[in-house]
Amino acid sequence: MNAGSGLFHVIDTRQFERPMLDRLCRLATRVRTLAKSRQGARQLRRLAPDRRAMLYFTQPSTRTFLSFNSACHILGMQTSEIRNPSISSEVKGETFEDSIRTFSSYADAIIMRTPEGGKAARAAELMDSIPRPVPVINAGSGPDQHPTQALLDIYTLERSFEKRGGIDGKTIAMMGDLRRGRTVRSLSYLMKNYRDVRLWFVAPPGLEIKQDVLDHLDSHGVACESTSRLDDVAGELDALYVTRLQSEYGEEEPGAVEYASYAIGLEQMDKFPPGAIIMHPLPRGPELSPAIDNDPRVMYWRQERNGMWIRVALLALIFNLANELEAGIS
Ligand code: ASP
Ligand code: CP
Repeated sequence: MNAGSGLFHVIDTRQFERPMLDRLCRLATRVRTLAKSRQGARQLRRLAPDRRAMLYFTQPSTRTFLSFNSACHILGMQTSEIRNPSISSEVKGETFEDSIRTFSSYADAIIMRTPEGGKAARAAELMDSIPRPVPVINAGSGPDQHPTQALLDIYTLERSFEKRGGIDGKTIAMMGDLRRGRTVRSLSYLMKNYRDVRLWFVAPPGLEIKQDVLDHLDSHGVACESTSRLDDVAGELDALYVTRLQSEYGEEEPGAVEYASYAIGLEQMDKFPPGAIIMHPLPRGPELSPAIDNDPRVMYWRQERNGMWIRVALLALIFNLANELEAGIS
């Protein structure tokens, strides 16, 4: 563990408590504001020019990769990457552990995404057993966790409800392939940090949220219910978080026609209260019609950009740069 912020590895959202979430959101806003001016951008770049990050992404990614890459560069950091293991020494039989340890020889942080669950946790465990450990940040580990997506989702929710008391007291529905969607798992785990939140899980039969998430919410007193029909809850929502069918994980799943009833288009938008927001981690599938893209309630483009700001904030906390950044935050 790191003596400054207390944040070192970022593996699973269960590690986050409210004070750190609030601090990250404040920091992200500070970074976003600074980055608007040349002088502020220069100030940010001077924070970590001596740090290097390894981006190890062996599962496809567009925005998590690009936003982490940009976040590092905003702080003046240098980055290296492996996105295709077939051109790394893994093809010569190098083990996962040896590869990770090798990255730590050249980098001050390892940011990693893998198609398999549990790999980031394994990398963090390895780091904790070697003389020069570096922080491991999970950028998506199979169907189990995507903690930095959940952080950007929290930041987006807090920003959207800034004038309505933040996330506390809100009713949020998560819809789609909840069984295999790691973003919903990670975000659900964070809800215990907010007061009087009500969660609705809206999923087709067979793709419901897993019991471990429900047990976690129950043990922390978070009110949640499940349904297979969006119409049951649409009128009472403050936010709807839509997700795509995670077909890359195989297994049986509902046919296209059945999943179509978990899609959002112009017709559905009339069913939500006027202040309700629509989120999606992206990339989208047919469940999110481009026809709604310019509706002011749509937040997914803002989520993308918030991902960059919150990742800068996260790196700043991990590298103990936050105090410097916070100087001047009232
Ligand atoms: N991009 C998100 C993830 O990697 C969501 C998705 O792919 O559907 O989990
Ligand atoms: N939201 C998200 O993780 O996007 P990518 O899969 O494109 O990184």
